[in-house]
Amino acid sequence: MNLSKNTVLITGGASGIGFALAQRLSHLGNHVVICGRRKEQLEIAKSVCPELDTIQCDVSKESDRVSLFERVTKEYPKLNILINNAGIQNRLAPLTEPQNWQSHRLELATNVEAPMHLSHLFISHLKSQASPAIVNVSSGLAFSPISFMATYCATKAALHSFTLSLRHQLRNTGISVIEIIPPSVNTDLGGKGLHDDGAPLDAFADHVMTKLAEGSLEFGYGFSEKSRLASRADIDQLFANMNRN
Ligand SMILES: NC(=O)c1ccc[n+]([C@@H]2O[C@H](COP(=O)([O-])OP(=O)(O)OC[C@H]3O[C@@H](n4cnc5c(N)ncnc54)[C@H](OP(=O)(O)O)[C@@H]3O)[C@@H](O)[C@H]2O)c1
Repeated sequence: MNLSKNTVLITGGASGIGFALAQRLSHLGNHVVICGRRKEQLEIAKSVCPELDTIQCDVSKESDRVSLFERVTKEYPKLNILINNAGIQNRLAPLTEPQNWQSHRLELATNVEAPMHLSHLFISHLKSQASPAIVNVSSGLAFSPISFMATYCATKAALHSFTLSLRHQLRNTGISVIEIIPPSVNTDLGGKGLHDDGAPLDAFADHVMTKLAEGSLEFGYGFSEKSRLASRADIDQLFANMNRN
């Protein structure tokens, strides 16, 4: 992928992996638009990287996704890359206990509905752009779940599956469909302090930029690179190791 002179929308681009990519892409001469729910976080991102354009938007809501698509394609008609990065990870009650369905539903809406619907919305616009791409951020947990995060892992498995189909269906459109598969990376995903033992964010983001520049269509990093390439027997072993309790 050519990593300059693009116009890029990154959902959830004001913090964590999205922001690390937004900064790198911006520094390479791309026009980068980020969106997120928290106005104050968007302002912090803009203060660190003033070249970014920001839009407050909740991609878990269908009406916000449609408004985002309409606004972005009107204000940035050359937008050629959509990065579906926004995601949430809730720590929910064990499935043996009563469930708060709304929390599960929000994970499904944010992690699956949003990237699927935004992809649908943007395809016809992207088809007419130079070097277009849809980039989905899934997870190593798409391949082997941690059972106490059953819904989160299922959303990422669904996103991986959707990405394979999307890539195949768009194979003659010129739109590249790319899947970034992070391992555990040190961000505030799920709340502060829950992801402090993972890969350093800068090292991971640098790796992503290298793989994008190489034209890789699907890649992980460290543990998630092993998971994505694992055999079924490896995955069974991985599942057993990751779910000892
Ligand atoms: N960190 C990891 O270990 C890890 C591992 C595998 C995969 N991932 C995936 O990587 C992606 C980025 O996560 P991260 O680790 O960088 O966590 P993060 O720092 O919490 O970033 C997530 C971003 O998504 C935004 N977001 C969440 N819900 C949104 C919504 N409904 N509408 C718009 N924006 C929303 C958040 O901003 P607001 O709260 O302001 O909306 C935040 O900026 C996610 O898809 C995550 O599942 C992360």
